[in-house]
Amino acid sequence: MEPAPELKRNSFPSMNFEAEILTTPHDNSELYMIPSMRSLTAEEYVEAFKSFLEHSTEHQCMDEFNKDQLPTIVAGLGTGKSTLSVLGVGSGTGEQDLKMIRILQAVHPGVFIDNEIVEPNPQHVAAYKELVNQAPDLQNVSFIWHQLTSLEYEQQVKERGTHKKFDFIHMIQMLYRVEDIPSTIKFFHSCLDHHGKLLIIILSDSSGWASLWKKHRDCLPATDSGHYITCSGITEVLRSLGVQHRVYELPSGWDITECFSEGDAVGGRMMDFLTGTKNFLGTAPPALRRRLQAALRQPECSSTRDGRVIFSNNLSMIVVES
Ligand SMILES: C[S@@+](CC[C@H](N)C(=O)[O-])C[C@H]1O[C@@H](n2cnc3c(N)ncnc32)[C@H](O)[C@@H]1O
Repeated sequence: MEPAPELKRNSFPSMNFEAEILTTPHDNSELYMIPSMRSLTAEEYVEAFKSFLEHSTEHQCMDEFNKDQLPTIVAGLGTGKSTLSVLGVGSGTGEQDLKMIRILQAVHPGVFIDNEIVEPNPQHVAAYKELVNQAPDLQNVSFIWHQLTSLEYEQQVKERGTHKKFDFIHMIQMLYRVEDIPSTIKFFHSCLDHHGKLLIIILSDSSGWASLWKKHRDCLPATDSGHYITCSGITEVLRSLGVQHRVYELPSGWDITECFSEGDAVGGRMMDFLTGTKNFLGTAPPALRRRLQAALRQPECSSTRDGRVIFSNNLSMIVVES
């Protein structure tokens, strides 16, 4: 039987917290467990994500894709059908969904759109419903929300034994949080109708996130619990499934200048979003904080424009055929 680890206490005087260090008699390896560091709750994540959207061109980048590419991509959907079935997975508060629905309406005038949404966060579902209530131009669109994770939805579908097919499914910036990426993609791909399309939007391999996750992962605390996945991780899965796909790369930036201003509340929230940690700047050991801030300034992560630090948030839009 493994001997129980011995618990020692160590203090970090400059940060005014104590960390527990577990050492095992065998290997003397040390595992830092800092009680004051914790992951973001779902509500805190919503706030951190809002701050990210306010200071990044994430949605503008998607708007550009919607304007330049999406009309052609969706033109061949549901040929001859009077209803197009759409499924949004991890739709958040719905802004991107509604923009895409409006494009579908413009490309397929008069067609009814049956839109279903899989979104586990109740705050996001409520905000999405409110957005729909405020939209006067969504006649001929029906909405069904499933307040579930993608896995819960998959299990429900399998239990019911009724496998509804969709003409258009999108998974926008959400695969980082699913339980099993390959099986999630496989399942939702199997939900496509003939000639249907699956749109996956994910961080590009050329983004600062990719470099941070590859080269500086040791700067990220264990509280960041998502998958560190970028476009090539997804295309590898698609190749193993043998499905046809095309990738569109679009530039996007995130102004993280405030992350480097001591005591700045906006900068604090940005660091929370980057690390998935509540009050990262106030709870992480100073050495970890300094290493992450230095990593963020590296040219593979950020560039400087007019004195502002712009973190690369380049996106990949992957269009998968049925
Ligand atoms: C970064 S947000 C993206 C929201 C929206 N698609 C957008 O681009 O604005 C990720 C969304 O995925 C949802 N999410 C997290 N885990 C999920 C899961 N396992 N299944 C489905 N959605 C999930 C979150 O609640 C959140 O709304």
